[in-house]
Amino acid sequence: MQVDLRSDTVTQPTPEMKAAMIEAPLGDDVLGDEPTVQALEAKIIELTGMEAAVFVPSGTMGNQIGIAALTSPGDSILVEEEAHILHYEVGALAVLNGLTVRSYSSDHGKVDSDELRAKCLTASLHTPGTTLLCLENTHNRHGGSILTPEDHAELRKTANDLGVKVHLDGARLFNASAALGKPIKDFTRHVDSVSLCLSKGLGAPVGSVLAGSADHIERARIWRKRLGGGMRQSGMLAAAGIYGLDHIFPLLAEDHAKAKRFSQALNQVKGWNSPEPETNIVMLDLPIDPARASEKFASLGIHAFPFGPKRMRFVFHHQISDGQLVYACEVIRKIALGETSFS
Ligand SMILES: Cc1ncc(COP(=O)(O)O)c(C=O)c1O
Repeated sequence: MQVDLRSDTVTQPTPEMKAAMIEAPLGDDVLGDEPTVQALEAKIIELTGMEAAVFVPSGTMGNQIGIAALTSPGDSILVEEEAHILHYEVGALAVLNGLTVRSYSSDHGKVDSDELRAKCLTASLHTPGTTLLCLENTHNRHGGSILTPEDHAELRKTANDLGVKVHLDGARLFNASAALGKPIKDFTRHVDSVSLCLSKGLGAPVGSVLAGSADHIERARIWRKRLGGGMRQSGMLAAAGIYGLDHIFPLLAEDHAKAKRFSQALNQVKGWNSPEPETNIVMLDLPIDPARASEKFASLGIHAFPFGPKRMRFVFHHQISDGQLVYACEVIRKIALGETSFS
């Protein structure tokens, strides 16, 4: 059996999702008459409580145009040191947006307001002024950790004190919402801009949506076009996102329960440590080279990525069945009992 836990982006559209894509009424989104894209954006407006939303091809574009529309080249922005926008967006903050970054640390994604205050710069003849605080929820490199609505409320207060805006990389905000049983709005009411991915836990093949004020999204639409992200009969893709919101979002808690069971299994192996996952991402610290470990896992049918000098990451999603979970836990049980060698 093969169990693909490399990422929640590996899911394939289901037959029902494909049917929704084929049946979607279509227009031309750049010309402003794409009914299915507009239906998706309306759903996101409703979920987030924001004034406006724009459908974009990827989470990276959602983040970068969201940030571009809130800043000017030369500004300083505050970004958590393990954030996706620093590690995995190929320097876009600098290359596309001309921004300087002051990174701040966090305790598994939990942010200390005093550190933000200390890192904030006041614009002067010598210093770029800080204009934006960037957050990530759930936090990928911290193992899917959650910022609660209360955390967001406190960070909003700090941002207001500092006179900076807030952008949220909410690629997996749906997971935070599912884990806490709190509506998306409870989180997004405390930010100016949020990028939500449809192609992660929600299982769509492509797409993210950026939401914010009407002004913000108008500026972001210009950035989307500038970067070549204006799409035409993109209702075919938006339909997959709508299907994910309606049918897969309600199932995310099942992915979290599977992640917990798998993490417990990993902890049965002597010398391995897997912190209890808050959502769908399981981290494993183990005493051998994680590149070698991932090859060994792959030979046993479990596919996952090395994620640091002593760390591996396993990500659960709606296409991991109960049977695959049982198989994966059984493989780990045999390793724990020494029936399967792992070195
Ligand atoms: C936290 C986070 N933000 C943003 C992205 C970017 O999404 P995309 O791959 O669609 O550009 C990812 C992708 O894995 C992510 O994990």
